[in-house]
Amino acid sequence: MTKRFPPPPLRDAPLAGARPSSDARTLLALRKSANKLVLGDPAPTECEIDELLTVAARVPDHRKLGPWRFVVLEGGAREAFGAALGQILRGRGGSGVQIEEAEKSMTRAPVVVSVISSPVDDGRTPVWEQELSAGAVCYNLLLAANASGWAGVWLTEWMAYDAEAGALLGLRSGERVAGFVHIGTARTPTPERVRAAVPERVTRWPAP
Ligand SMILES: Cc1cc2nc3c(=O)[nH]c(=O)nc-3n(C[C@H](O)[C@H](O)[C@H](O)COP(=O)(O)O)c2cc1C
Repeated sequence: MTKRFPPPPLRDAPLAGARPSSDARTLLALRKSANKLVLGDPAPTECEIDELLTVAARVPDHRKLGPWRFVVLEGGAREAFGAALGQILRGRGGSGVQIEEAEKSMTRAPVVVSVISSPVDDGRTPVWEQELSAGAVCYNLLLAANASGWAGVWLTEWMAYDAEAGALLGLRSGERVAGFVHIGTARTPTPERVRAAVPERVTRWPAP
């Protein structure tokens, strides 16, 4: 199912600024996240995940800071991480349902990639721009997965904003979870959703 990507180009290799592709246009026009409850096996292998991450990281990145990193959860690590999330909620008097949901949160898909925004303080590149680049990585990862035959969904949920959960993931000062990208195979198709109307969000400057 999975198609391999071309190898990363060498530094300074001349690369076309446009790459017309009917397959790419179809992918972009019809792409859809999977419902988080329909993801299962098969999943990309460790080697395929590494390749997906390499491609996902080919995003615009002001001053080439690489202000993001990945923490991959696979196999038993997903259960262990979920169990630790459950422990956090138990310690706070969370309900049984909340604890159970937390415990299962990372096993809904065979692979969960935590994309961590890791801004670099170079004294001149706004953190906002670096966080946008991390968001681009999340989306690029979804597209790379889709183009390889895998379904996925970009989630955050409470654990992306929780200090204890962040410590569990090994977040350092200034780092934030940009997303948990869940990847696997969709058991069923996901119905199209309502889309934001674009024309009403487009203006031309100057206003008439
Ligand atoms: C930053 C970010 C965080 C999200 N977090 C969640 C989440 O925690 N739970 C959820 O159900 N959906 C979440 N979503 C939405 C899912 O990704 C959603 O299924 C997706 O936006 C569907 O869009 P699509 O139909 O264009 O693929 C999030 C989306 C983004 C961009």
